[in-house]
Amino acid sequence: MALIDKRTLRYIKEYRWSNVVEMIRNNRRSPDICEEDFTGKLVVISGATSGIGYATARKYASKGANILCINRNPEKSEKLKDEIEKEFNVKCNYIIADLSSIEQTHNASSKLLELTTAIDVLIHNAGVYFTRKQVTADGIEYLFMVHYLSSFIINYILKEKLKAQGNSRIILVSSEGYRFAAWGLRLDDLNWEKRRYSGLKSYGSAKLAQLLTMLLFDDYFRVSGVTINAMHPGAVKTDSGQENGKFYKWFKRNILDKALKPPDISADRIFK
Ligand SMILES: NC(=O)c1ccc[n+]([C@@H]2O[C@H](COP(=O)([O-])OP(=O)(O)OC[C@H]3O[C@@H](n4cnc5c(N)ncnc54)[C@H](OP(=O)(O)O)[C@@H]3O)[C@@H](O)[C@H]2O)c1
Repeated sequence: MALIDKRTLRYIKEYRWSNVVEMIRNNRRSPDICEEDFTGKLVVISGATSGIGYATARKYASKGANILCINRNPEKSEKLKDEIEKEFNVKCNYIIADLSSIEQTHNASSKLLELTTAIDVLIHNAGVYFTRKQVTADGIEYLFMVHYLSSFIINYILKEKLKAQGNSRIILVSSEGYRFAAWGLRLDDLNWEKRRYSGLKSYGSAKLAQLLTMLLFDDYFRVSGVTINAMHPGAVKTDSGQENGKFYKWFKRNILDKALKPPDISADRIFK
């Protein structure tokens, strides 16, 4: 019996390994530091209560931007608002929405649509990582909903507003982890009902779905002055994965976290 089947062999042959080499190089690079002034601009960011989102909200605020967060936790949001407003003398408001809920995602989008001011930067950052399959109250696999569908809904609802503004920047906090969806998206089983669930593959699929629709939005926004880009924030130490079991948390704390960098480097990458 052959060790590797034909399909895998073909995959290995056709894979653009130069991309992987570039990814490794990029991960080692320090981000360029940008000093652009954002005074008076509005930056909307999801998942700003922790990790990369928190560091990014602080980074934009430090450059004069007003911040509007989409967070699920009211207490953490109030604390963040207080901290940012005191420290940077800008406005920091929040919309409370659990982005695993279709209804709450729609409500948050409607509130953004009603804004009379322009959204200068829209950052889709909120994310989770589960090793075991979780399903939302709407019956959707959780990672797919939070990483992909929620950002899709928000972009879709806001697309005309952003286009009419004539200028805006959408940033998707993606991940090199999209490569875990090595065989592409299984459109016949997006909800992981026909296959054995894998946290890594599901995470990769959700990020890949986001990248693929980014290309469609990019077409839509072409020549409008609105840009949409995805970025990998680097491998950084955050609260990610805390909902998982004891073994994962032990592994993260004692092995993974030791090699990770602080999330400020992600904020510098997003800001640039
Ligand atoms: N850390 C890395 O090395 C790394 C690498 C590549 C990509 N990323 C991406 O970076 C993004 C941020 O992750 P992180 O590492 O900074 O993780 P984190 O510290 O766990 O932060 C995640 C943020 O998302 C929020 N969030 C989670 N589920 C939500 C939901 N259902 N509704 C609304 N908000 C929700 C969290 O809110 P609470 O505070 O309420 O929990 C928190 O603010 C994710 O998209 C992740 O895939 C991270």
